[in-house]
Amino acid sequence: MSPGKGQPITEPNEEVRARLQTPLGRRRLLWIAGSGAAALAAGTEVFWNREVIGSSVARDTVHLIPSAAKSGFLPDVDIALKAIPATVSLFGGTPTQVWQYSGEVLRGDPGSLQVTPGSYLGPTLRLRKGQKVRIRFTNGLPEDSIVHWHGLHVPAAMDGHPHDVIAPGQNFVYEFEVINRAGTYWYHPHPHDRTGPQVYWGLAGLLLIEDEEEQRLGLPSGMYDLPLVLQDRSVDEENQFVYLANGMMEGMSGFLGDRILVNGRPDFSLSVATRTYRLRLLNGSNSRIYKLAWSDGTPLTVIATDGGLLEKPVERRYVTLAPAERIELLVDFAKYPLNTQLELRSLAFSGAAVGGMGRMGRMGGNATLPNGAPFSVLKVQVTRQVKERFAVPATLASIPRYRLRDAINATSPRQFTLAMGHMKWLINGRTFQMNGVADEETVRLNTLEVWEFVNKAQSTGRMGGMGMMGGMSMAHPMHVHGRQFQVIERQISPEFAAQGASLRDGFVDEGWKDTVLVMPGETVKLLLRFEKYPGLFLYHCHILEHEDMGMMRNYQILA
Ligand code: C2O
Ligand code: CU
Ligand code: CU
Repeated sequence: MSPGKGQPITEPNEEVRARLQTPLGRRRLLWIAGSGAAALAAGTEVFWNREVIGSSVARDTVHLIPSAAKSGFLPDVDIALKAIPATVSLFGGTPTQVWQYSGEVLRGDPGSLQVTPGSYLGPTLRLRKGQKVRIRFTNGLPEDSIVHWHGLHVPAAMDGHPHDVIAPGQNFVYEFEVINRAGTYWYHPHPHDRTGPQVYWGLAGLLLIEDEEEQRLGLPSGMYDLPLVLQDRSVDEENQFVYLANGMMEGMSGFLGDRILVNGRPDFSLSVATRTYRLRLLNGSNSRIYKLAWSDGTPLTVIATDGGLLEKPVERRYVTLAPAERIELLVDFAKYPLNTQLELRSLAFSGAAVGGMGRMGRMGGNATLPNGAPFSVLKVQVTRQVKERFAVPATLASIPRYRLRDAINATSPRQFTLAMGHMKWLINGRTFQMNGVADEETVRLNTLEVWEFVNKAQSTGRMGGMGMMGGMSMAHPMHVHGRQFQVIERQISPEFAAQGASLRDGFVDEGWKDTVLVMPGETVKLLLRFEKYPGLFLYHCHILEHEDMGMMRNYQILA
């Protein structure tokens, strides 16, 4: 169940192929077996289409795969990025088989790409607002892939939509201008029904953007600006990652590993100086939610969310970080004596899954560290005395506030209901269709809209013929491609309020977001503006197993 063990990447043998088609692959074959040879030939499409519920219009789009750089595009940075099987020594003894992005700067600032040594994580891309970027992606994996720039506002054709997947050995050339503001973004694969395993085997990297507004603040930089990517893995006796060993049920609840890795390393610790640090946290886990707090009870000073700096720092006793969310902290270690030991912990919580999910969680093999169990994320040791002092700025940045009354649908929010049906997680009763867009998923360029994610709390009934899964509901981190949005309201139905309360105080909705956690029984209202680029974009649950199982849809921006 580990990726491409020692096999040449171009021609995986049968055994490797079988392993690459880990449980989701098995499930796919089961479904197809019932629908005959024609279905088998048509593959995944058939599987998903027979599951489509409700009306939706398939719009065929023609895709010219940009496999060559355009001569008219003059990049400030030209980068080669490759996804390849590799090995890293993570646990001592046998190295771990992973899939990994590796890259090189062909032209432009060599600092645009920064390698994290000893990690499976891809190089950190460091870009500036206003830069023109070309990234020549080569798929060196034994299966289809495509890269998505999570949080970035790029043309639809550059967004890494699953219909743009490229085959092993093929290239895809991305060309876009960085129009996002400074912030912590990231990149990861996005092939349909294989995003979970590909990210899990190691394909992910940070993408940091800087701009002038941020630079004026003189925030801690260099070795005092530390990215921390939080992920969980399940590891076997041979040091290999194990994914979805328990099959579909584990996928329904979302995959959880019992080893916590930071920047791709186990037992992570930081030694720090007595001064202020900027910590950039990304939850790069497939499905785990973190409830982050310092072991000594010091509140967290949050300065940025998914889409960059807040207007002013906010304090939280703990921060809730759902899959794909980012948060930036300023931490003052100057207040601690030398040799102090601290821990960043994930605190106990409940309510991310309610009802039948508890039983299902136990069926999955990962009950050793369920979502909501407390654990240590990383250790900090204060090892160096320095004199520098940094005062946390009172104001950070300006955020133009969207107003509900300016939305074209101010009084009738576009609703997206999240619920389970027929053993799948669905959005408005539908599963993913590669090019499918429903009328209610079609918006106009240059409009502001209010959207509502409604996490339907199901209290009774048998679902998909499986009685034991009845009455379950899960928190879904909902992500919208192609823009940052503003969260304007959360409402939770009374029967779920108590459970929701165990994570609620950790939400940071004050700034720009591209992913928002919607608790069971909760309705979250967002304002989004559709600007600049028309076309087909995705929105989906960022629990990667939910996404792979079809809790993803397109929305279309008409010019
Ligand atoms: Cu990070 Cu479509 O996702
Ligand atoms: Cu995204
Ligand atoms: Cu979900």
